[in-house]
Amino acid sequence: MNLNERIPNNVNLAEDKKLQRALEKWLPNYLDWWREMGPDGFQNKDVYLRTAISVEPDGWANFDFVKMPDYRWGIFLKPAQPGATIGFGDNYGRPAYQEVPGEFRNSLRRIIVTQGDTEPASVEQQRELGKTCPSLYDLRNLFQVNVEEGRHLWAMVYLLQRYFGRDGRDEADALLERRSGNPDKPRILEAFNQPCDDWLNFFCFTMFTDRDGKYQLSALAESGFEPLARTCQFMLTEEAHHMFVGDTGINRIVKRTAQLMKDGDVRQLGGIPLDIIQKHVNFWFSYSLDLFGGEISSNSADFFAAGLKGRYKEQELYTDHIAADQTFTMTLVDDGKLSSREVPLRNALNEVLRGEYVKDCEKGLARWNKTLADAGISDRIRLPNTRFHRHVGEYAGHYFDIDGNPITAEEFERRKAQWLPTLEDREYVRSLMHPVVEPGKIANWIAPPAAGVKGKPFEFEYVRL
Ligand SMILES: [Fe+2]
Ligand SMILES: [Fe+2]
Repeated sequence: MNLNERIPNNVNLAEDKKLQRALEKWLPNYLDWWREMGPDGFQNKDVYLRTAISVEPDGWANFDFVKMPDYRWGIFLKPAQPGATIGFGDNYGRPAYQEVPGEFRNSLRRIIVTQGDTEPASVEQQRELGKTCPSLYDLRNLFQVNVEEGRHLWAMVYLLQRYFGRDGRDEADALLERRSGNPDKPRILEAFNQPCDDWLNFFCFTMFTDRDGKYQLSALAESGFEPLARTCQFMLTEEAHHMFVGDTGINRIVKRTAQLMKDGDVRQLGGIPLDIIQKHVNFWFSYSLDLFGGEISSNSADFFAAGLKGRYKEQELYTDHIAADQTFTMTLVDDGKLSSREVPLRNALNEVLRGEYVKDCEKGLARWNKTLADAGISDRIRLPNTRFHRHVGEYAGHYFDIDGNPITAEEFERRKAQWLPTLEDREYVRSLMHPVVEPGKIANWIAPPAAGVKGKPFEFEYVRL
């Protein structure tokens, strides 16, 4: 691991002068982007952050006070496995690709650019959040997520510049030019153009949208294109913390809400009522489901056949890695009615991955509902049906209620305010967002965390303002 170079890396950058020059040219543009679009108002503050210093599963992270622009963004890949082979698809068992296979160059570049685009997009979406942090602990977690998303951009830019020549360099530049929510040059995926301007949205985003990232990265971590697999394997270790922030963040809101419910009217007491939490869950869950792509997808079949994108835990969970003659039964809309259809499994892999994601989300919901049960509250939070409020795939353009029953557009319009955050809900949540920056203090609408960071207490001064 070369930590002292301008770009810390474990890919022997010093030996590839051309690539090193290209990345060193990109670095100042990245820093300009970070200063312009990264957390507003905190660039010169000391933040207690973890930085990657090795790729070993234990002890890869070093915790210390750092100013965010001085964060050591770097290129870290899991070490190569000697004799690695392609783990699935038509080329199962052949040597893994060390260079991009020609016939898949365009689709592979698209996969990497689409993944890469989400990383800076989320930093842009969260840019203003620091100003309304509920505690220094939460402020620090926000910044940790932000710098690591910046590093994930580096990870994808490395792949583009190292393996895709000139087009890769152009794509790397374009990643710094698009802007979340900008009508003229928006980010690629819709969920990454949605505003994330309050902390309930932030926790939902890290719970549901970062978790989509986990499943996409897991599928790519199986890739027969080895540099991509090794890149994603290391990104996943960082990603786990982002989902922890979201999952525990909502759990802490639920806990506080449950306390306030026993004391009286949650709104009057300045908390976030459960129905508003539920509507945000409905919103972010449904948008995040769209990120997996269409239920029936020839792309997913092609990527699997080529050995580029596998299933979640392909090696651990499956024995048949060819999956050529299996089928998958799914519910589709036929003439306005639901009907089931058998689809070749390889064409259903987006849906298979989405199913794994839903199971993982349910575990989070079970933790929040345990918090409610422990507090003696009988209400529960639930996930909407996966057909509800979809904008991509088989259910897009159709209307469903929260249980997935088909309804008319008029009925959806009439009941929408029951299911999705209204302008008034959003304004109410925003009205609660006032910064709490005294060490050990916490905003009224959220409970403190069960533990601090890296053995430090909650009262620790995680950000020196
Ligand atoms: Fe990321
Ligand atoms: Fe993330």
